[in-house]
Amino acid sequence: ALPAPFTAPLPVPPVLRPTRSDADTDYYEITQRVGEQEILPGLRTRVWGYDGTFPGPTIESRRGRRTVVRHRNELPVPVVVHLHGGRTPPEHDGYPTDVIAPGGTRDYAYPLDQPSATLWYHDHRMDFTGPQVYRGLAGFHLVRDDVEQALGLPAGDRDVPLMIADRAFAADGSLRYPSLDPSLTGQPGVTAEHMSGVLGDCVLVNGAPWPVLEVTNTRYRFRLLNASNARRYRLALDPPPPRGPAFTQIGSDQGLLAAPVGHDALHLAQAERFDVVVDFSGYPLGQRVTLVNQLGRGGTAQVMRFVVARRGTDDSRVPAKLAEVEPLTRAQAVVEREFTFQRGGGAAHHGVTPWTVNGQPFHPDHLAAEPALGTVELWRLRAQNVPHPIHIHLAPFQVLNPGRYATGWKDTVDLGSGDEAEVLLRFDGYRGKYVFHCHNLEHEDMMMMANFQVR
Ligand code: C2O
Ligand code: CU
Repeated sequence: ALPAPFTAPLPVPPVLRPTRSDADTDYYEITQRVGEQEILPGLRTRVWGYDGTFPGPTIESRRGRRTVVRHRNELPVPVVVHLHGGRTPPEHDGYPTDVIAPGGTRDYAYPLDQPSATLWYHDHRMDFTGPQVYRGLAGFHLVRDDVEQALGLPAGDRDVPLMIADRAFAADGSLRYPSLDPSLTGQPGVTAEHMSGVLGDCVLVNGAPWPVLEVTNTRYRFRLLNASNARRYRLALDPPPPRGPAFTQIGSDQGLLAAPVGHDALHLAQAERFDVVVDFSGYPLGQRVTLVNQLGRGGTAQVMRFVVARRGTDDSRVPAKLAEVEPLTRAQAVVEREFTFQRGGGAAHHGVTPWTVNGQPFHPDHLAAEPALGTVELWRLRAQNVPHPIHIHLAPFQVLNPGRYATGWKDTVDLGSGDEAEVLLRFDGYRGKYVFHCHNLEHEDMMMMANFQVR
């Protein structure tokens, strides 16, 4: 049985220490292996984790310092590591077929010459990303820089990453995922009733079910990440603070906004990040504040709880101006392209109707776009049948449709069924072949992915 909510203390993943550092690079080592973790009280859950834990350890990088992560694969299947949101050369980006075989080791080198942001790393193996992430292969990778540090935002133990992910459990505490082949070595995909995405009935934050965090009556910075395979959330605070917005958004997927934006609720699709400040100073001491999910029902209508337990001193600020964000304009786009994300079109994949991009299931040799290095393009993204959260590797983008998002750089945009979004992408940094895809991981595994090659 699932535990009573708001009993487990919120875990915060440990920050990984480099094994060594030299003048311009920090070196890390991670072993991917089976681990056992008490997620539900009194039960041991087998996870596949970075260093055997879910979430994996947090990596913190400084802008401009290279980060090299040596991954050792002690899992029984191939793995691929993708740094989501990283501006990474193609050979280190975790192309889905570029695997580390069982028993193998690989160094991923990240230049991280990009603004401070909440990135995350997760598995990206062709056909099996959904089950492998579900088993636990996900962790935070934060990039910090001088701009962020000078702002005086809440820091230290008041800068808390929150990885939100729903899971389902069997009675013995094991994770329940409807793979057609649970060995993850043969037939990919999930049973027919889960084709649209695998949902759980238990919401985990940093790997704990509906946890609780005691806070002081001060400001906190929360880096919200939706690491769920298929669930979306509309997050709100219950009760809302007596004054001011529930959430002051300071950052988006790719880093700080130009200026803070207040929200009473946040729509968080898979893989999106919202960097927010919550001010607990208006609540009386002892107040319980629940982070609720307005899109959920029963257990999935709740996420976690804060208890305003003590008085605290606070010299943090949220300045009215945060970072330089150059707005892209339509006139800068040298090419326009359209991509429709839908079910069907193209041959069956292992006997299953694929999800497709412009009617094409993923093929490693097919290039859907060939943008020129250093240019800006306008992509019109459309969702049919069901909603699709679209993630584009390498190239950060701005969403044009007014009212959709606070200005800022994103790497994932959520499309409702029948929706269209226009995004302006900047192809900077590296030439080579990258993927873009739906981040509903069951759609991705069933081929809703395409390549672009930066020339
Ligand atoms: Cu978060 Cu292509 O992945
Ligand atoms: Cu999708």
